[in-house]
Amino acid sequence: MKMERCSVRLLVFAASLRHDSYNSRLATLGATVLEEKGATVDRATMRDFECPFYDQDVEASKGIPEGAVRLRDRLRAADAYLIASPEYNASMPAVLKNAIDWGSRFKPQPFKGKRGLLVSASPSMVGGNRGLWALRVPLEHLGSPVYPDMFSLAQAHEAFTDSGRLKDATLQKYFESTIDCFVDAVEATKHFPAMKTQWIEFLGERPTKATERVEESEVPEAA
Ligand code: FNR
Repeated sequence: MKMERCSVRLLVFAASLRHDSYNSRLATLGATVLEEKGATVDRATMRDFECPFYDQDVEASKGIPEGAVRLRDRLRAADAYLIASPEYNASMPAVLKNAIDWGSRFKPQPFKGKRGLLVSASPSMVGGNRGLWALRVPLEHLGSPVYPDMFSLAQAHEAFTDSGRLKDATLQKYFESTIDCFVDAVEATKHFPAMKTQWIEFLGERPTKATERVEESEVPEAA
C-alpha cells in the first residue's frame, strides 16, 4: 500500500563526470525510488555544478562561479538531497569537495539544515563506503544533517539489470527501505520546524570581517 506523504522535494546527483558512471546509475535508481515513494525529484549532474578550483583571490575579483550559483539555487529549492559519490583513494572526488567549498561561500549558506542521503557505487568490494564517511565531514560541518544510514553498492559493474534496478533482490529491497526511511526523516524535518538547527561554524565566533563565516541564525520561536 502506498503511503500518503506531505510533499518533499529532493535534489539528486552523482559526483562523477564519467559518461557511463555507476554512481549516475545509482542516482537514477535513487530518483526512481524517491518518486515511487511520493517525493518530487530534481535530477542534476555534477557537470551542472562544475567550478574552477577554489581560490579566494578569484572569489574576491570575479565572485562565485555559475556552477556554485546553480548548486545553491537547486539546494535552496529542495528540502533535502541525495548524492551518489564515487570513492577515490578512500575519500570523496575532488570535483565534489570543490563544489561544496564554493557552495559554502554563500550567505545564507545553502547546506545548512538540508538533510542528505549518501550512497556510493564501485566495482570494488568496499563499494565506495569509505568515501562516504569522508564526505559526511564537510557536509555535517556545514550544518547538514546527513542521514545515519548509507548505501554502498559493491561490484557495481555487475550489479544492475538492463532496466537499471539491482539484480540482487535483497539489496534492491534494502535500497528502497533506506530511501523510504530517509523520506520520512525529510518530511518530519520539513513539517516540524523545531527540529531545525542553528549553524555556527565555530562556537564562540562572532560575526566580524576577519572570520566572515559566522551567520546570524534564526532562533526558532518556542512553541
Ligand atoms: C578509484 N576507484 C576506487 N574504488 C574504490 O572502491 N575505492 C577507492 O579508493 C578507489 N580509488 C580510486 C581512485 C581513482 C583515482 C580512480 C580513478 C578510481 C575505482 C572507482 O570506484 C571506479 O572507477 C568507479 O567506477 C568510479 O565511479 P563512477 O565514475 O563509475 O561513478
